[in-house]
Amino acid sequence: MRKILLLGSGGRESAFAWKISQSNLCQKLFIAPGNAGTSQYGENVKLNPNHFEEVKSFVLKNAINMVIVGPEEPLVNGIHDFFCADETLAHIPVIGPKMEGAILEGSKDFSKNFMNRHGIPTASSKSFTFESLAAGLDYLDQHSLPVVLKADGLAAGKGVLILEDREAAKSELKAMLDGKFGNAGSTVVIEQFLSGIEVSVFILTDGNHYKILPEAKDYKRIGQGDTGLNTGGMGSVSPVPFASPEFMAKVEDKIIKPTIHGLKAEGIDYTGFIFFGLIKVGEEPMVIEYNCRMGDPETESVIPRIDADLVAMFEACANQQLDSFELKIREQHAATVMMVAGGYPGDYEKGKPISGLENVRDSIVFHAGTLADQGQIKTNGGRVLAVTSLQDTQFDALQRATADAARIYFDGKYFREDIGFDLM
Ligand SMILES: Nc1ncnc2c1ncn2[C@@H]1O[C@H](COP(=O)(O)OP(=O)(O)O)[C@@H](O)[C@H]1O
Ligand SMILES: [Mg+2]
Repeated sequence: MRKILLLGSGGRESAFAWKISQSNLCQKLFIAPGNAGTSQYGENVKLNPNHFEEVKSFVLKNAINMVIVGPEEPLVNGIHDFFCADETLAHIPVIGPKMEGAILEGSKDFSKNFMNRHGIPTASSKSFTFESLAAGLDYLDQHSLPVVLKADGLAAGKGVLILEDREAAKSELKAMLDGKFGNAGSTVVIEQFLSGIEVSVFILTDGNHYKILPEAKDYKRIGQGDTGLNTGGMGSVSPVPFASPEFMAKVEDKIIKPTIHGLKAEGIDYTGFIFFGLIKVGEEPMVIEYNCRMGDPETESVIPRIDADLVAMFEACANQQLDSFELKIREQHAATVMMVAGGYPGDYEKGKPISGLENVRDSIVFHAGTLADQGQIKTNGGRVLAVTSLQDTQFDALQRATADAARIYFDGKYFREDIGFDLM
């Protein structure tokens, strides 16, 4: 039996907590810090996942014997390494890679070089620093347009710019190398623009074996019809109709296998999720980026399609026996509609009371930015609730998730009503 500590507080962690709470192998679940929704599935703990000493004392005091890391930050900061280096914690399985693996997400320069070393299809690119600014400007002079500029480090989804204009690209390169994104931009990757449609593919790996989870598509723009500013994600669907068996076979052969092989060849011991941000160019998959954790809001559509015990899967992963784990996937379609605060992704207010949750009929509501305040559930972030419906057809899933989002109310609420409609 496992006493599990799940780190994180968003919709992704709510979906994990919902699924973990259904496992017979879970004796007790803590979520740190969690949100108003996760407390339905376990006990929320006031802990900062980036304060490793705090995490340590909680783990020891509560005899935690499995840690699952939701967000990238603690991984990139080395929480798994911290556990391995401490003799009182070293025996506790951590689901999430060590720093040497998390760098696949933590450094876009590293991941581009990794892909090139292992023949993994990706856009051509070159990296520059402040010292090589002049060469970078020359490179931009020769580059096709549009051109993509990427801050190397973690920039909370804001570090990628796609520019149509050469002069604008040059001044952005200067601004980034001048510290526009702080340290994250001290190296900038200049990358060829790829045209195609994006899809997110996820695996769980124990370093030797892997299981491919359901693929998903997320919707990043705030406005209907994919218009307006980028957000953390306004919704998702799974499965993705254009990710045919033939396409997925290419993904496995040309991307997943060489990635696992590359990690092993470089002596990088990886336990956890890998998110492959892919783009379908013609019929070919290419990698836009790696993440070292699950995506949000993709997880909210992926997890309900998993017809297997998640804790058993983590157990198999920790024991390096993922090959003997049977992962069943439901044929059904999941659609997730994200309800956000008015003004998001710009300035928005928090603390708005949420009502109507009890009126939801055909969906699971995964909380993201919520807080319980004296018995009242209130908004506590830009992305507030993820409303997920699992149905026999994509159309039905989308319709029901959208209808249920309409049954929930908070002041300023907004959601897109067109999630996934482009795929039908
Ligand atoms: N080479 C590229 N060609 C076309 N679009 C790209 C390219 N690189 C990134 N993008 C777009 O920018 C988004 C963000 O880039 P990504 O590398 O995923 O960084 P992050 O998620 O860290 O912001 C992608 O989802 C994609 O829509
Ligand atoms: Mg991305």
